[in-house]
Amino acid sequence: MPPRPQLLHEPRTVEVPRIRHAPILGTRIVAWPDETACATFAKGLASRPALRDAYLELHGGLGAGKTTFVRHLLRALGVTGRIKSPTYAVVEPYEVDGLAISHFDFYRFDDAREWEDAGLRELFAAPGLKLAEWPQQAAAMLPLPDLRLLIEVDDGEGRRVELQACTPRGLELLR
Ligand SMILES: Nc1ncnc2c1ncn2[C@@H]1O[C@H](COP(=O)(O)OP(=O)(O)OP(=O)(O)O)[C@@H](O)[C@H]1O
Ligand SMILES: [Mg+2]
Repeated sequence: MPPRPQLLHEPRTVEVPRIRHAPILGTRIVAWPDETACATFAKGLASRPALRDAYLELHGGLGAGKTTFVRHLLRALGVTGRIKSPTYAVVEPYEVDGLAISHFDFYRFDDAREWEDAGLRELFAAPGLKLAEWPQQAAAMLPLPDLRLLIEVDDGEGRRVELQACTPRGLELLR
C-alpha cells in the first residue's frame, strides 16, 4: 500500500450545513379521487387523539390541495370561523375546545429573523397541533415532523397522497 500523502494543512473544523437525517419510520399511500375523499380522510385524522400535539408537513405543488386539506381538518376539529390561507401572514392561529392549532404557510418565508420576530419559535415550542405548507422554505428552522403528506395531482380532481411517519406519534397516526 502506498504511503499516505502528507497533510498539507493542519486538519481544521469546517462549518457544514446542518444535515437533517429524517428517518422515515413508515409510509402509506392513500387516494383522494375527489375533494370529498380529502374531507373524509381529514375527518378520520381529526378523530385521532395523537393528532392533538402533532406536527404535520404538507408537501405538494401550487394548487395540490394543502390548504384544502387543512380546511377540512380544521372544520372536522370544530373550527367554525373563516379559515384563511396563511400565505401572507405566515401563520394563522386557531383555538378550539382547548386545542391550540397553528396553520403555517412558509411559501414567502425567506428571513430567519422573521422566525424570532413573528414568534414562530414560541408557537413551535408550545403544545398543540401544527400544520405547515411549504416547510422546505424554512427547513433549517423547523423540527422533524411527526407526519408528512406528499400530495400529488393525478389528473383533474384525483390526488395521490403519500404519508410518511417520522416519529412514533406519526406512526400512530398512520394506523
Ligand atoms: N381531491 C382533492 N383534494 C383536495 N383539493 C382538491 C381535490 N380536487 C380538487 N381540489 C381543489 O384543488 C384546489 C387546491 O387548492 P389549495 O389552495 O388547497 O392548494 P395548495 O396546495 O394549498 O396550494 P398553494 O401551494 O398555492 O398554497 C382547491 O380548489 C380544491 O377545491
Ligand atoms: Mg395553500
